[in-house]
Amino acid sequence: MDGWLNFCGKFVESLGHEKACNMLESSSEMSTRQSIFERPIVLVGMMGAGKSTVGRRLAVRLGCRFMDADRVLEERMGVSIATMFDLEGEAVFRDRESALLAELVNQNVAVLATGGGVVLRDTNRTLLQDRAWVVYLRANAIDLWIRTRRDTSRPLLRGSDARSRITELLTQRAPLYEAVSHCTVDTGRQPVERVVDQILQQLQSRESI
Ligand code: S3P
Repeated sequence: MDGWLNFCGKFVESLGHEKACNMLESSSEMSTRQSIFERPIVLVGMMGAGKSTVGRRLAVRLGCRFMDADRVLEERMGVSIATMFDLEGEAVFRDRESALLAELVNQNVAVLATGGGVVLRDTNRTLLQDRAWVVYLRANAIDLWIRTRRDTSRPLLRGSDARSRITELLTQRAPLYEAVSHCTVDTGRQPVERVVDQILQQLQSRESI
């Protein structure tokens, strides 16, 4: 296990992150390789927690496939998440999100970034706890607001009061993220590679892995 991880780490170091990501993501072996952890590693957390950025880097370090559930949904539907919310409403989006989650977890996608609201449904949480290693990327409301404030693509953060909306959503969801996750890593303001190191350490030190 350590040999493969070290190899991937050195590969990333020698090429630089962006180049290594692009190169490995376009390799066909990478697209089918399972991670050494066997179950999918699923990143949960609030909007702006860094799930996609961290997930992409984590997958490269593991030498395996990364998917972002929201991007997959957008590709399939041919419209943005914001347009889905506008045309069909949040409830239909949540149905689509749950169906896709079940599909991707059962397909054993190696590293999966989810939308921030995926923990809202019991069925999603049960599926994740039973079938995946769930990592909660935790950040405080101020950092989340700083990271998302210029972004207009998130329908739940539209409007002038995004800061209190984030606080409200975080208060509602933090217990759900805590409950569903097998480990928690603070994203705070630390570099992505350090977050990835902490995820790997925590997953490796779990007795059950
Ligand atoms: C949502 C988060 C978004 C996206 C949708 C709803 C949420 O994903 O799924 O806008 O309810 O928190 P990100 O967490 O990737 O922004």
